[in-house]
Amino acid sequence: MVTREENELITRVEGDAPMGKLIRENSWIPFSLSDNLVAGEAPTPVRLLGENFVSWRVPDGRVGFLAEGCPHLQASLLLAHVEGDGLRCIYHGWKTDVSGSVVEAPTQVVRHDRFCASIKVTHFPVHEAGNIAWVWLGGPDPPPFPDLPFTAEHGNTTALTFSALPVNWLQALEGGLDSVHAGILHQSWTRNVIAEKGEAMDEGKATIAFTKIPTYEVGESTFGMKAASLRKQDDGKTYARVTNFFFPLVIVAATGFVDRNHVFAFGPVDDTNHLLFFGSYGTAPVSQKDFGAVREDFDPDPRNFSAVSGDRSNRWGQNRDLMAAGHHSGFSRSVVDEDSVVQVSMGPIVDRSKDSLSGSDGAVANARLLLLDALAAYEDGVLPPGSARGQGAVRIPDPYDAVLGPDQSWRDIGRES
Ligand code: FES
Ligand SMILES: [Fe+2]
Repeated sequence: MVTREENELITRVEGDAPMGKLIRENSWIPFSLSDNLVAGEAPTPVRLLGENFVSWRVPDGRVGFLAEGCPHLQASLLLAHVEGDGLRCIYHGWKTDVSGSVVEAPTQVVRHDRFCASIKVTHFPVHEAGNIAWVWLGGPDPPPFPDLPFTAEHGNTTALTFSALPVNWLQALEGGLDSVHAGILHQSWTRNVIAEKGEAMDEGKATIAFTKIPTYEVGESTFGMKAASLRKQDDGKTYARVTNFFFPLVIVAATGFVDRNHVFAFGPVDDTNHLLFFGSYGTAPVSQKDFGAVREDFDPDPRNFSAVSGDRSNRWGQNRDLMAAGHHSGFSRSVVDEDSVVQVSMGPIVDRSKDSLSGSDGAVANARLLLLDALAAYEDGVLPPGSARGQGAVRIPDPYDAVLGPDQSWRDIGRES
């Protein structure tokens, strides 16, 4: 059970909050879909860990990422002209380039070049992988980017949605680890998928996953946690689905489809907002619609897929007529809407001391413990699991699923730690 104080500790990321510090100093943080950073477009506002930044793509493909305030007198660079490989502030015309150097300062006539060279600009390195742009906010000398399974280096492409959601990042992370809700919250969608795409699924595993309540077993790993959901079949075998939690911002999970795995990545904006990157990856390119996660007549906004509308006074836009007609949740546009609405409905930072955990909440309960343990250890100078600053490369293996015989353990078929 998490106390109120512990809850504060694992959720808050702004200012000097220990969790924000841990993330800042150890993780590359996702902030945009690569496709949404288009050369020549106005600078994009980015907010992470309670601080404001701007990002933009320059014609040669590089991505700039600066503190929002102009290095001169802090006017917002969101207002700036995009000029070549830099941003020119509209206030006094200073130009800062993509590498974080002031290259022109028209207000300084004497020793102009030397003056420009002396200006410190808060600039951060960006790495793109899996159609996501990730930033390193942890200081100079960025560590190597981790080896993620959903990248082109592994022959994979992603089909991702991007949403900015008004709720603490940990509520979304826990939703990603909690596969039990798939067969309940998403049941109307999954019924359709099984009916329409059954042939694309592996030995009917998805049917089992969506109809049986699992128990969970977890294993620690160097990158974070492996969470196995175990569902007993009627023939005595067990369907095991192993999810890899790359601590603390990424989850990869099996879907039951042949050659498709889920990806979740979370960008903590501040204490009460986060960015969600959700979708799937595999060797064959698919769109989100091909994969079935959206209603056919819903044309999503690539820059905000799941815009939660309304509030508790209108049940966040829930369609009760649809429910009366048999739809489970009353949110039929996409599965992401179903997740977003339930997470927002919990309140901006849910008080976990009031939870009543049940037998299927093992992955969530262990993730909370892992966060608390990692925070305590970090205080003592021990790097958290999956830290980009650790010894050796960080590698996240593919998730997997399998039907186990009566005497088999999911650990026996585990491929990599
Ligand atoms: S504040 Fe930007 S140039 Fe002066
Ligand atoms: Fe969900």
